Amino acid sequence: MQSNKKICVIGLGYIGLPTAALLANRGYDVHGVDVVQSTVDIINRGEIHIVEPELDTFVKAAVNSGKMKADLTPTKADVFIIAVPTPFHEGYVPNIDYVISATRAIAPYLKDEDIVILESTSPVGTTDKVEEVLKEEGVNTSKLYIAHCPERVLPGHIMRELVENDRIVGGTTPAATEATVKFYNTFVEGEVLSTDARTAEMAKLTENSFRDTNIAFANELSILCDKFNIDVWELIALANRHPRVNILQPGAGVGGHCIAVDPWFIVHAGGEDAKIIRTAREVNTYKTEWAIEKIKNEALKFENENGRKAKVACMGLAFKPDIDDLRESPALFITKRLISDGLDVLAVEPNISKHKEFEVVNYKDALEQADIVTFLVAHKEFKNLDIESNLDFCGVTNK
Ligand SMILES: NC(=O)c1ccc[n+]([C@@H]2O[C@H](COP(=O)([O-])OP(=O)(O)OC[C@H]3O[C@@H](n4cnc5c(N)ncnc54)[C@H](O)[C@@H]3O)[C@@H](O)[C@H]2O)c1
Repeated sequence: MQSNKKICVIGLGYIGLPTAALLANRGYDVHGVDVVQSTVDIINRGEIHIVEPELDTFVKAAVNSGKMKADLTPTKADVFIIAVPTPFHEGYVPNIDYVISATRAIAPYLKDEDIVILESTSPVGTTDKVEEVLKEEGVNTSKLYIAHCPERVLPGHIMRELVENDRIVGGTTPAATEATVKFYNTFVEGEVLSTDARTAEMAKLTENSFRDTNIAFANELSILCDKFNIDVWELIALANRHPRVNILQPGAGVGGHCIAVDPWFIVHAGGEDAKIIRTAREVNTYKTEWAIEKIKNEALKFENENGRKAKVACMGLAFKPDIDDLRESPALFITKRLISDGLDVLAVEPNISKHKEFEVVNYKDALEQADIVTFLVAHKEFKNLDIESNLDFCGVTNK
């Protein structure tokens, strides 16, 4: 039934490309759009430009069957899905410029009864803004169905979660919600829940702020425990034996392009009233600065005692264990800061082979050469290493 529908997906990154490829494999005719020529070319060869399990198989099948092609410009379609980046400007001001330019780009191709879906994580009010921009472009939006459907997939499991996760759909009108829910129900096995656009936008920001706030609690505990000379890992394990307590694990901060970014969208709009969410962001950022100071103090102590600079092994650069993603990574931030502050650093990341700013050292070589070892990410390679470190910020030596 769905095969007569044509879909235009704007933005072929971690969200847009898997979505496009999945829909093509479900029988839709998919026209993918990206502003980067090399991305378009790679996809049209049936190949992929990002790392994600199973995605290559889906893209290859989609392109070979003629169901999916990529292009630099949109085309006429029945459903438009916008999945472009939503970072922030200087000073944590949300940047919806990509959403606006994608909206302007599809305007000439829209016809009555089309569905326009914003999947990008967005500040509250952005879906209404999409409608406003379309009106500015001369589109009669009263005949369109415009909705927000935030994405909540876990990188590494995207192809499965795109189908299995529950989804939230919020339209600018009840009719838009209904039409969009109907569309997602053609390929989502999870429940597709209905609300309005602003609630859907806030729901996604809330999910990530909830994670950020809970991690901030653990990070604050880790700083307090260091002051009180208590092992925070043991403390949390004990406290979590309470049937209604579930404290998360502390780390070197909070990273990634979602949890470390999205809460600012709430803080920016909420001002003075977003107290806990702002403070959580500040606590998590402070944890990274606190870790830097601890490492530098240890290096200074070594230099004073030994009359030479310490070699410091920074174990892990990614924003979380067992991935190669360095976006907004506190471990990378710490490593770069130590290097720029003149420390002799051995940067270790088992999931990447090189970095444009410094040499990446094999972890075994680094451990042989290092005077000081600091664990920044709990990668599986670092478990069971039999090393004691008072600079283990991710608890990997405790496991
Ligand atoms: N990656 C995730 O795990 C994840 C999870 C949930 C939500 N999100 C959200 O989804 C959105 C997209 O994230 P992503 O990870 O796919 O980003 P990404 O950077 O991987 O991909 C975005 C793509 O959009 C392209 N693009 C930018 N402007 C464009 C335009 N005007 N027209 C066409 N293409 C354009 C870029 O070239 C890029 O290929 C963001 O709002 C993000 O916060 C991402």
